[in-house]
Amino acid sequence: MLTLKDPSLLKTQNFIDGKWVDGSAGTIDVTNPANGEVVATIANGGADDATRAVEAAAKAFKAWSRMPAKQRAVLLRKWFNLLMANADDLGAIMTAEQGKPLAESIGEVSYGAGFIEYYAEESKRVMGHTIPTISNDRRLQTYKQPVGVVGCITPWNFPNAMIARKAGPALGAGCTIVIKPATETPLSALAMCELADRAGVPKGVISVVVGDNSREIGAVLTQHPKIGKFTFTGSTPVGKILMKQCAEGVKKISLELGGNAPFIVFDDAHIDAAVADCIATKFRNCGQTCVCTNRIFVQSGIAAKFTNKLKAAIEALKVGDGFEDGVTIGPLVNETAVGEMQEFMQDAQDKGADIQVGGKLHPLGHCFFEPTLVTGITDDMRIAKEEIFGPIAAVQIFDTEDEVIERANDTQYGLAAYFATRDIGRVMRVAEQLEYGIVCSNSGVFSTEVAPFGGWKESGIGSEGGQEGMAEFFETKFHSMGGIEN
Ligand code: SIN
Repeated sequence: MLTLKDPSLLKTQNFIDGKWVDGSAGTIDVTNPANGEVVATIANGGADDATRAVEAAAKAFKAWSRMPAKQRAVLLRKWFNLLMANADDLGAIMTAEQGKPLAESIGEVSYGAGFIEYYAEESKRVMGHTIPTISNDRRLQTYKQPVGVVGCITPWNFPNAMIARKAGPALGAGCTIVIKPATETPLSALAMCELADRAGVPKGVISVVVGDNSREIGAVLTQHPKIGKFTFTGSTPVGKILMKQCAEGVKKISLELGGNAPFIVFDDAHIDAAVADCIATKFRNCGQTCVCTNRIFVQSGIAAKFTNKLKAAIEALKVGDGFEDGVTIGPLVNETAVGEMQEFMQDAQDKGADIQVGGKLHPLGHCFFEPTLVTGITDDMRIAKEEIFGPIAAVQIFDTEDEVIERANDTQYGLAAYFATRDIGRVMRVAEQLEYGIVCSNSGVFSTEVAPFGGWKESGIGSEGGQEGMAEFFETKFHSMGGIEN
């Protein structure tokens, strides 16, 4: 039973054109992955609801895009204040629908709110250029203008922050937005929307359509003629489908897709710090982030020492219901995800891997999987190549810097990469050679609203966060002014 300080934050309908409305496809249940209990029964939206939301957003765009940036910034700032003031409730809603430990959920609320605050500020600093003229009769200028209605689909692993990371810059730029949150985690999105409404964001500027009709709603958000831009965070295979759908209408797109992050530990690393960083990046959100460490490469000279310490740190992780004190690892999002972990382990064992700790369903059952350490990894194993998206740490050994860079880059993904070394020359060399949009030396934590987050290769298109994240929501217009001289 979910208890909130402000129970009116638990919304169960779609939010379209400033109104809470039922879905055209009935209702569905939202369940808690820690115990299978129903958290809420919510509206099941469909293509009709999404179409109405897009049309309302198109109508609202005129006034919102023309509102002076300073006024938009005031409204976004109010939204930020309300998100922070209600962080405990937003965190509890998130833990109930997604499973992550409560402290991690509240941390995500604050991380997400940071995007709203940052883009409230940035919205006042959008500059075009004056270009030196090519003839005295003319003046040349560029304007940055909002791209229009933004359709967005967000994932279940960060039910708050991935919405904030899109809505903040979109609204700050003067765009309006229609959000389809993940089927598993609609409640965070709806609560955020309620707070945007309380902050005074005008009707139609932000709408949310929830439910399990993702394909139908996705078709509207990628193909409706009034959509100016589409943005998605999720898996690479789904991103490719959505990208094809956007191609028809030549929509602007940004995609934050899958990863296959290497974590490289060189012989000269500070071992205890590297172990702590590896735990932070491998086990954040039970291993369910696109930037989670996926392949751990340890240089041969310290392999035994590092692996023993990593094993001890994994054994110290506390698995349980995210509402329990001291829990650091919650459940996986659903039973399908548990099945995938079991398949990864079966494949690795069949091909000769050594399980050092964990490797199976946790005694708590449901969606709980044991934090796992596995060694003896060979290239033919699935965990050596595929995105794991769960609490399995797989350690491989390497000998030289050149060798490990080649192995780390040998993937179609290019989102985040981590490495640990105390040699400053190596820090520079390795950072430059890793083919990833984000590299992290001697640290397992990097996410922030002030810096760009984006993948290379099949990990995505465009960036979110920082100034780059806002640029994605503008069109550039060149104004050539003649008739200046008489
Ligand atoms: C993600 O992995 O989907 C987002 C992670 C982050 O923002 O840190």
